[in-house]
Amino acid sequence: MPDTAMLARLREILGEAGVLTDPDRLAIYLVDQRDLVRGAAPAVLRPSSTEQVMAIMRLASEHRVGIVPQAGNTSYCAGATPDGSGEQFVLSLERLDKVRAVDALDATLSVDAGVILKHAQEAAEAAGLYLPLSLGSEGTCRIGGVIGTNAGGLSVLRYGMTRDLVLGLEVVLPDGTLVNDMRKLRKNNTGYDIRQNFIGAEGTLGVVTGAVLKLIPMPTRRATAWVELAPDVPLPEMLALVRRETSDLVSSFEFITARSLALVAADGGRLKSGSGGVILVELSSSSKHLPIEEVLEGAMGEVVEQGWAEDVIIAQAEAQRAEMWRIRETIPEGEKRFGGSVKHDISVPLGRTVDFLKEGGAAVAAYDPSFELSVYGHVGDGNLHYNILVPPGEDRLAFTDRVTRELAPRLYDIAVGMGGTFSAEHGVGRLKRGLLQHYADPGRYRVLRGLKGLFDPHGVMNPGAMVDPSIGLPD
Ligand code: MLT
Ligand code: ZN
Repeated sequence: MPDTAMLARLREILGEAGVLTDPDRLAIYLVDQRDLVRGAAPAVLRPSSTEQVMAIMRLASEHRVGIVPQAGNTSYCAGATPDGSGEQFVLSLERLDKVRAVDALDATLSVDAGVILKHAQEAAEAAGLYLPLSLGSEGTCRIGGVIGTNAGGLSVLRYGMTRDLVLGLEVVLPDGTLVNDMRKLRKNNTGYDIRQNFIGAEGTLGVVTGAVLKLIPMPTRRATAWVELAPDVPLPEMLALVRRETSDLVSSFEFITARSLALVAADGGRLKSGSGGVILVELSSSSKHLPIEEVLEGAMGEVVEQGWAEDVIIAQAEAQRAEMWRIRETIPEGEKRFGGSVKHDISVPLGRTVDFLKEGGAAVAAYDPSFELSVYGHVGDGNLHYNILVPPGEDRLAFTDRVTRELAPRLYDIAVGMGGTFSAEHGVGRLKRGLLQHYADPGRYRVLRGLKGLFDPHGVMNPGAMVDPSIGLPD
């Protein structure tokens, strides 16, 4: 248990406002956003400078006390929730919230790790540039968490994951050492790329305190289509055609099943599902010389000729485009309203998405034909949110537990058997660490464990997340 001397020292470092101990104020930091895991902590620490984070980590290492970094607390895998021991401190990044610089010619944005993603997007926009990271949670998630989980989102097929957008990083190591790698370079072949270790590490190797992000020219023109799919459309072929015929201007290619659509448009709105679901496709461009509306129309014409669409609606005005995106982006809220879902964040190679839908569907039906699926996601990058709705009247936590133990392994086996994964963009956190150990190549898992031991020899960084030291190494 952290002693009172340590708490007093933390108050000296952070001031009264930087150390929360009032149980009412602590509560929101101690539960994950899906309300699946509840932890405990002696205090929530709220540093307002990198130097304060360094001082916290020095003290934590000295006292061998666990520190759980937390940004916007929007993790899907309880990656930022302390355990129930009451011995781990939460280190909230929320007061590290300054946009440090926007550099229009370098096309970079330098930010503190506690900046809300939406604010980072707005800072880029004010300079006529665009941060191509688009997530449902962008109004609340913070850059440190986006980096910690290597978040993906709605435009990965064009711009990549967070990992592809981080040029520079500032990190505090568990012993308080500062790694200042806040570079803006596109090219820098000078040894190991240390930065990549911390991206997707979920705060298990150090605390990310700042980042330099890559920007692109602002896409001032967008052309968006809502494709009501015919039955049994070969989605990988459709994706390949649309990419080819639009000269790869596709920034989003999202799949929505009729059941997911019904969760947000129960009033039977004008945007309907086809027999095979919906593809929401968007092209974007920063050029006023490129007729992307015509390009999209041409590509959609070919989709219709192939017999893949029952109808195609091309957004004629921004309000219509916004409505298409509102539907897509509020599906998770629709699931919540329904009573919740058990989420499976599957990714398979692009060519196998339809195979997964078929085999996954068969596995669910064989387990319990009454189960309802809500399937949607970023099919353009191979990522499907393959969720099972909690049946009305069932206890959400008990149902989640049962499905996670009994059915999820079948789905993950199918995905992994196709060369896919059990976590495409939601991370590992505390909920999927057993899956990581189970599915990772033994050599890779050994390296993960080795890196953890190297960076964090005393096990103070987000203990219990991602790499679980209590799980033995496979032979
Ligand atoms: C999304 O794509 O909407 C999210 O990653 C999935 C979710 O919120 O369940
Ligand atoms: Zn997603």
